[in-house]
Amino acid sequence: MSGAIQIRCLQTIGDREIQGLGDVLIDCVEGGASVSFMLPMSRAKADAFWRSTAASVARGERMVLAAEDETGEIVGTAQIILAQPENQPHRGDLAKMLVHRRARRRGVGGKLLAAAERSALDAGKTLLVLDTASDDAERLYARQGWQRCGVIPNYALLPDGTPCATTYFFKSLRD
Ligand SMILES: CC(C)(COP(=O)(O)OP(=O)(O)OC[C@H]1O[C@@H](n2cnc3c(N)ncnc32)[C@H](O)[C@@H]1OP(=O)(O)O)[C@@H](O)C(=O)NCCC(=O)NCCS
Repeated sequence: MSGAIQIRCLQTIGDREIQGLGDVLIDCVEGGASVSFMLPMSRAKADAFWRSTAASVARGERMVLAAEDETGEIVGTAQIILAQPENQPHRGDLAKMLVHRRARRRGVGGKLLAAAERSALDAGKTLLVLDTASDDAERLYARQGWQRCGVIPNYALLPDGTPCATTYFFKSLRD
């Protein structure tokens, strides 16, 4: 499947993209991912999140990448948050790296991560930072050269309310 996957940096996010990105976000939260949302994960919460993200893209504060299958359906996404304090112009945050459960373990996450790093570099970023509560994601980041910094216990809640730790990673894009 990953051979047919196209990664696109979304310049504008319209209704079609909001629907597809919402499908991915809802599926990931319902699958237990700690990505800011609690159960029940409604369409209204997903729409509000992606509409606010679209406005942030329009202001130039972040980039949103979408992984699309051969039919054009969105099966995954990742973001680079560009807007940082004035003393950290070279840093970006990787966020909301999500792949729909039906498209996982076929290289979509790896492709999204590589494309996000290239897009960040093209935007002038030389350092990326992220945090994750997912073992699957930790292996992906380590495999693609990210450095594990450490763990903060009790950082957030899983969608069902169970407390969970988060692990910080960084990657220098100069190397
Ligand atoms: C983390 C996440 C994005 C990974 O996405 P993915 O598309 O499954 O990632 P990949 O396919 O590139 O890699 C996943 C695994 O499949 C394997 N794989 C990749 N291509 C493969 C293929 N063609 N055949 C078999 N296995 C393959 C990888 O080696 C990797 O193995 P591992 O689990 O032993 O490390 C996904 O699990 C997810 O969305 N999780 C929920 C949301 C979340 O927590 N995101 C992290 C927020 S920071």
